[in-house]
Amino acid sequence: MSGNDRIVSAVSAGAGEEYADASLRPKRLDEYIGQKNVTENLKVFIDAAAARGDALDHVLFYGPPGLGKTTLAGIIANELGVDLRITSGPAIERAGDLAALLTNLNDNDVLFIDEIHRLNRSAEEILYSAMEDYEIDMIVGKGPSARSYRIDLKKFTLIGATTRAGNLSAPLRDRFGIISKFELYTPDELAEIIRRSAALLATEIEGDSLAELAKRSRGTPRVANRLLKRVRDFAQVKGDGRIDMAITDEALGSLAIDKMGLEGLDRDILRLIIDKFGGGPVGIDTIAAAIGEERVTIEDVYEPYLMQAGFLHRTKQGRIASRDAWLHLGMTPPEKPESQLSFIGDAEGDD
Ligand code: ADE
Repeated sequence: MSGNDRIVSAVSAGAGEEYADASLRPKRLDEYIGQKNVTENLKVFIDAAAARGDALDHVLFYGPPGLGKTTLAGIIANELGVDLRITSGPAIERAGDLAALLTNLNDNDVLFIDEIHRLNRSAEEILYSAMEDYEIDMIVGKGPSARSYRIDLKKFTLIGATTRAGNLSAPLRDRFGIISKFELYTPDELAEIIRRSAALLATEIEGDSLAELAKRSRGTPRVANRLLKRVRDFAQVKGDGRIDMAITDEALGSLAIDKMGLEGLDRDILRLIIDKFGGGPVGIDTIAAAIGEERVTIEDVYEPYLMQAGFLHRTKQGRIASRDAWLHLGMTPPEKPESQLSFIGDAEGDD
């Protein structure tokens, strides 16, 4: 499978990609499935801000890509009855680009900046006074004729999204009043999302196929919806349009998604650790170099699910493939006790 047709995408969703399934996105908070820790508190903050006629405090969402951060930003704007502007850190090349976006916001509007950790320094500095005092200072011209202009902004809400809160500078992070962590979805939550999406796509899906798709969607609604659409294609061309277990298995097999939802690169990572390093521990930089992916992509896109599925452990000494990973790949694990290693769970930035 080439890089481009991977189910997992390394880039956290340019606005374009995420908006490709606009038809499947929930528009209201009560349609949003899962992430209860995030949504229950948000509902209180939204209701309070709306009752005061005030802007919602700035919000930071962090967690792996594809978990519905942009969707929730859209819902917040909808619930507040205000406009939503969407951009991303890498799309803002100069401070002036951000200034133009900010000055065009109306009272209580929401500005969503995806991949906010990739904002350049000069744009980030503009954000500090914009977030805190709703004003920006722009310098126009160069040398002795340079002039500084203060521009007042309307009161607005910034929603920033990032794969890791730890990558944000402290001054930026401190300016968010609400900081929420997104977790991978459970199979039950994913099944509910797939059921809802299938209904919106007017596609019939059998209960066991629903459960199977949910199990193989690596905890990620974006993957679930994408797989659903591909399986629907198979059902349409090779069957009568109904999604049953046989069609689901055939479609997912053709897409090289295995029984646990692993795709090619997930298996490459585990196989590398097992074949070349006896199961580990092995450092993340070594894995990245051998696989030919960026370290951050492996850490943010692949590892969260491999860990949740119980195939990979992060330890202070490096990554280890679990016994289940050996068995899943059809190999016999060694009798090496894993317990002597110091586990660091899903801590960031180790080794
Ligand atoms: N589509 C994508 N994410 C969703 C979610 N959390 N709830 C409902 N539909 C979704």
